[in-house]
Amino acid sequence: MNISFESQVAVVTGSGTGIGYATAEAFALAGAAVVVNGRRAAVCEEAAERIRAQGGRAMAVAADVSTIAGAEALARATLDAYGRLDIMVNNAAVAAVTDFVTAPYDEWRRILDINMDSAIHCSRAAAREMIAAGRGGRIVNVSSIHSYRAEKGASHYDMAKGAMDQLTRALALELAPFNILVNSVAPGFVDTPMSMVNGKSELDTDWFRDNYVTQRRIPLARAAQPGEIAQAIVWLASPLNTYVNGHVLIADGGLSVTF
Ligand SMILES: NC(=O)c1ccc[n+]([C@@H]2O[C@H](COP(=O)([O-])OP(=O)(O)OC[C@H]3O[C@@H](n4cnc5c(N)ncnc54)[C@H](O)[C@@H]3O)[C@@H](O)[C@H]2O)c1
Repeated sequence: MNISFESQVAVVTGSGTGIGYATAEAFALAGAAVVVNGRRAAVCEEAAERIRAQGGRAMAVAADVSTIAGAEALARATLDAYGRLDIMVNNAAVAAVTDFVTAPYDEWRRILDINMDSAIHCSRAAAREMIAAGRGGRIVNVSSIHSYRAEKGASHYDMAKGAMDQLTRALALELAPFNILVNSVAPGFVDTPMSMVNGKSELDTDWFRDNYVTQRRIPLARAAQPGEIAQAIVWLASPLNTYVNGHVLIADGGLSVTF
């Protein structure tokens, strides 16, 4: 079964690196024109160039999607360049460890703005265009197993991801009359720049190896590669998906089925 996005346009936020990049690349290699977004213009341009070098159609748009202005500029730039917007993947996020009681509220707010509000802003900007064009569309939110499991020091991240999955359900309902399908992919551990903690990948620590590999708390005994998560996102956003709506697809190697 081949997936083809011929004539479709996909926007992936935070796609200069990691899962976002792998997703943009997969869309482009399946025929979509893609918009690579991030805050740093040079990183986005380099990623778009890597996709173009493989024969894909890709454009870089630097924009901070934690703001309404940034999300709207991203949608506008997409329409200006490609004339349509069929798929929005809300992937941009940051990780941070913060003590709930003592951390300044500004830090809390910063994480919610990037990890939660960005999905509101980009979904609204995209849905307006999809509704106006009348061709339907797909929105995929990249949440996390943090959506339904909590980790010490990650209250803002946990809350943002939980809210994102609930946004998925609410929008699946609200946008269904326009044939806009809305789903989430919730990854577990993935080998990306987000795994770096103080300059070292947490996947290269004894803590990760002992717990998740040796004791197989991840039944597949390894972290995912970004492309493995991208495949789930791409399928949910594809024309092959005509009936999965409001779903949170957990992609964690089985981590959350055990305890
Ligand atoms: N790596 C993991 O283990 C893991 C696990 C579960 C969920 N996730 C989720 O996957 C998604 C992708 O993360 P990743 O692992 O590929 O890490 P990553 O750090 O490579 O990707 C996040 C991207 O978002 C971009 N970004 C951050 N703030 C932005 C903003 N305001 N505007 C635009 N872009 C912004 C970053 O520059 C970066 O390119 C995130 O939503 C993350 O929460 C990752």
